[in-house]
Amino acid sequence: MTPDTTQRHAGEIDADAIRRAAAILRAGGLVAFPTETVYGLGADARSDAAVARIFEAKGRPEHNPLIAHVADLAMAERIAVVGETARRLAEAFWPGPLSLVLPVRDGAISARATAGLATVALRAPAHPVAQALLRAFDGPLVAPSANRSGRLSPTDADAVRAELGDAVEMILDGGACAVGVESTILKFEDGAARLLRPGGIAVEELERVLDTPLRAAEGGEVEAPGMLASHYAPNASLRLNATAPAPGEAWLGFGPDPSGLPALSENLSPSGDLAEAASRLFACLRRLDARGPERIAVAPVPEKGLGRAINDRLRRAAAPRA
Ligand code: TXA
Ligand code: MG
Repeated sequence: MTPDTTQRHAGEIDADAIRRAAAILRAGGLVAFPTETVYGLGADARSDAAVARIFEAKGRPEHNPLIAHVADLAMAERIAVVGETARRLAEAFWPGPLSLVLPVRDGAISARATAGLATVALRAPAHPVAQALLRAFDGPLVAPSANRSGRLSPTDADAVRAELGDAVEMILDGGACAVGVESTILKFEDGAARLLRPGGIAVEELERVLDTPLRAAEGGEVEAPGMLASHYAPNASLRLNATAPAPGEAWLGFGPDPSGLPALSENLSPSGDLAEAASRLFACLRRLDARGPERIAVAPVPEKGLGRAINDRLRRAAAPRA
């Protein structure tokens, strides 16, 4: 199948494309769409059949629950019970790259989407195309990252086409994703927020609103099956915290580069800007990997702000394959 691809010109939304996309979703089809973090593979969150198609298209294990996307807090409240801390966070950071794991209301979305859990991960994306689509569809959309399971997340429409082009009815092209790493995921234990996945909202920003240090969630059953050690796997192996590339290695820099770089090299942010580095991470890895190097040496990235999310993705990309 060749997907219907629509070009969106900078700053304007193609209302006709959004209507077509919403109609496809209502009919149980799959539409890939841009969010500010990464592209999502969208389907009607209330339809078992549509949700099943997502697991199949991605080759994703059925026990790994999906994030449901909502237009705003009001739509979230129809699906889940939003406690006081969660509400404060949603009011501060939605629409934006923050997902909240909350108790799901009975029958509000497909049990396949939650993998049968009593909770659902919800987020309101900020990208104008995602917002327009959610409002036209007028209901929750599940959307995991639009890559095959275990691969790098796509941050532009070409990467979606390469990953899933033959499995989706439509790809909405909204240009390159501004944030570039997936949302931060929080869960709640006795009302207190706990970090499940570092992402597009920095821990330091969350702590300012929470007014207390944000602890990592205790490990445990489902925490995040998507948090398998080996995830985001490029074909090349990765050597992290490298000061310079060894002979034969490709190079992924951050900040000023060492001298004598190989032809195959990229830099996440020559000026050492973490937000720029996050926005370029998956695209740089994809470009390097496409040229078939055996190993990519990666410069150290500071473990603060968005650097935590970048290092989390790099560690998973570097982990030995299962
Ligand atoms: O930025 C993002 O979050 C992107 C864009 C498209 O919105 N989406 C995304 O989805 O990254 P995905 O499916 O690749 O990652 C969702 C993660 C998975 O690791 C899953 O295990 C976890 O969220 N998750 C979903 N529901 C959960 C739940 N009820 N409890 C714990 N973890 C959950
Ligand atoms: Mg993913």
